[in-house]
Amino acid sequence: MYFVAFGILRSASSLFDFLLVCNPYSAPALEVRYRPVEPLLPISILDFTLLSKFSRDSCANMPLTGVKNVVLVLSGKGGVGKSSVTLQLALALSLQGKSVGILDIDLTGPSMPRLVGLEDAKITQAPGGWMPVPVHSAETPETESTQPSRGSLRCMSLGFLLRDRGDAVIWRGPKKTAMIRQFLSDVFWGETDYLLIDTPPGTSDEHIALAEQLLTLSTVDAAAAAQSGVPRLAGAVLVTTPQAVATSDVRKEANFCVKTNIPVLGVIENMSGYACPCCGEVSNLFSSGGGQVMAQELSLSFLGSVPIDVKFGELVEGKLERGDSDDEDEDFPKGEPEETPAEPDHRPLVERYRETWSYPRFEGFAQALLGRIEGQVATA
Ligand SMILES: Nc1ncnc2c1ncn2[C@@H]1O[C@H](COP(=O)(O)OP(=O)(O)OP(=O)(O)O)[C@@H](O)[C@H]1O
Ligand SMILES: [Mg+2]
Repeated sequence: MYFVAFGILRSASSLFDFLLVCNPYSAPALEVRYRPVEPLLPISILDFTLLSKFSRDSCANMPLTGVKNVVLVLSGKGGVGKSSVTLQLALALSLQGKSVGILDIDLTGPSMPRLVGLEDAKITQAPGGWMPVPVHSAETPETESTQPSRGSLRCMSLGFLLRDRGDAVIWRGPKKTAMIRQFLSDVFWGETDYLLIDTPPGTSDEHIALAEQLLTLSTVDAAAAAQSGVPRLAGAVLVTTPQAVATSDVRKEANFCVKTNIPVLGVIENMSGYACPCCGEVSNLFSSGGGQVMAQELSLSFLGSVPIDVKFGELVEGKLERGDSDDEDEDFPKGEPEETPAEPDHRPLVERYRETWSYPRFEGFAQALLGRIEGQVATA
């Protein structure tokens, strides 16, 4: 495989498909870094005349233009909380003042529309590409407030494109690969500090397609990203539960990162103990600490653990209402109507999330990630 860079053929990893690359460091490249050429175009057909396909107009909206950092959320195991962790990292980063996007590439079970409470939202098409669905907008507090500004959060998921929640997507590998490429190249994110990618479990077709495509559209090199404006593939957050069955699957995911040269930013142990809904005190119902041990054994950074948080569960299942209390029903004998029915809470998800026991932990994870990612940029 080769890249064509202003007429110079450069060798590249065989991971990549057929790409035409403009030199990101030279002025004539404008905003162009690279542009996918027709898939399955044999390399022998690539010749320099293809460069004539580039024009200022066609180069205006390149894949992931405006995205600064890309973070993957991975786990070898299903149901361990990848999507929940993606969402909470996104909310916590947004509360740190960052503009955030969530890309849900779980094609067979996209759960992000449900988690953000926007199952009926639809994707719109704009000249720059598909527009992600807004979850909340950016907000700057009053001057005297001690709160930092809040960044915007937007979301893209195949779930928004399915007509019905129950619709099934049964696709073979090549179609999945094509869809992932389209998600990475055709969504218009605009200025976005962090794009978090929620993945399906395992190391399937989707993961391989994602890694291939990301390694062509972004760079893991912080200095090159800062210099050229290409998105930085900051790395992956691995999610596990404490049990050995989950940690052994996550080891495979760590191996996948090594093989694809994607840095591991850290491990989060989810569903580690149980947080009391009233006081937040964590008790160890099952085991805990398995993710931490695994991280130590693999010499990976351990970001921390998150207990089962009923408040968070209720929040994403749409059951949390203003003034919710666990024993409110006990005051009303069966059959008698409640005098004051619980008021629906219409505040944005991000505001309600702050009240969960999980938020302070994710605030810590977000700060740790920011230190790791942006600290590296500063010192690069
Ligand atoms: N810390 C937590 N506290 C309470 N509920 C949680 C927690 N983490 C996850 N959940 C709940 O567990 C369920 C599964 O979580 P989630 O969908 O995030 O897992 P997943 O790994 O993305 O699953 P899949 O492999 O199917 O994509 C969801 O209903 C979610 O709300
Ligand atoms: Mg999921």
